[in-house]
Amino acid sequence: MSKQKVIYDTDPGVDDAMALVFQALHPDIELLGLTSVFGNATIETTTRNARFLAGRFVPGVPVAQGAAAPLKRAAPEPLAWIHGDNGLGNIAIEAAPEAALDARPAHRFIIDTVRAHPGEVTLIAVGPLTNLALALADDPQIAPLVKQVVIMGGAFGTDGVLGNVTPAAEANILGDPDAADIVFGAPWPVAIVGLDVTQRTIMSQDYLASLRDRGGAAGRFVWDVSRHYEAFHEQSAQLKGIYVHDSSAVTYVLAPHLYTTRSGPVRVLTDGIAVGQTIQKPSTMPVPAPDWDSRPDSTVCLDVDVPGMLALYERTICGTL
Ligand code: BDR
Ligand code: CA
Repeated sequence: MSKQKVIYDTDPGVDDAMALVFQALHPDIELLGLTSVFGNATIETTTRNARFLAGRFVPGVPVAQGAAAPLKRAAPEPLAWIHGDNGLGNIAIEAAPEAALDARPAHRFIIDTVRAHPGEVTLIAVGPLTNLALALADDPQIAPLVKQVVIMGGAFGTDGVLGNVTPAAEANILGDPDAADIVFGAPWPVAIVGLDVTQRTIMSQDYLASLRDRGGAAGRFVWDVSRHYEAFHEQSAQLKGIYVHDSSAVTYVLAPHLYTTRSGPVRVLTDGIAVGQTIQKPSTMPVPAPDWDSRPDSTVCLDVDVPGMLALYERTICGTL
């Protein structure tokens, strides 16, 4: 497989960091840049974390700072009880070497990079979708120039689960529902990797310990960064392990055959008690639905080969691909 050019739009975030290590070590991914966004922590914290992660795992790859708040709403509070006070599970963050901070805002970095590589760039977006919506607003013509947009976000109820922040909404979509509805309506190929598959994919405590023992410095980092996150899962969901959210979006890029998908346009509710809910009209559904019918199809992940996903991550971290 030839290398896939990727811009990683991220709000690190413990699972964002685990997904960055995955991309850094997989030989089929060429990271062109990281773009930060508010979400798991403030934009100052997520940008600092993105620079730390890029500097450590993909030296030479730049970071561009993105949105501090959603398009139309106030910035949310940092999720310290999930991702730690520093957004990275309270691990020590060394001061150097940090990745260079690109002078452009994230959405301009995305536009310029897509235009420099037409048809080649995959956007992996694992935070609120504000930077992508700003890129579309600034330069709508980039949409058909993007190879694909792979998003961790949303939930479509296959296990009866529609959200992890409210009964109806997943965190990244609720982070900026207006942006998400714009992104799902743009003429670029979108794949959505939501809670339907990310909450089925669990890294157990034994699995993480094995990465620690067999994965060298990267495995040790994945272990260290996930201690606080694992405690959160045990406390909140009585889970002896962690859900695999953002690394599932990376897996979809590398091995889409591991996912069972459904095609059809997706809308996001932007107000009311179910704000942030994602609703797909399956393309097989015959009844008219004007609020969906004028929009492009998205690919929604409904099921996943869990052992296949976990094996791909493990082999990447342990260098046994
Ligand atoms: C998503 O929300 C964030 O807290 C995680 O980093 C992940 O991207 C899961 O709902
Ligand atoms: Ca994230």
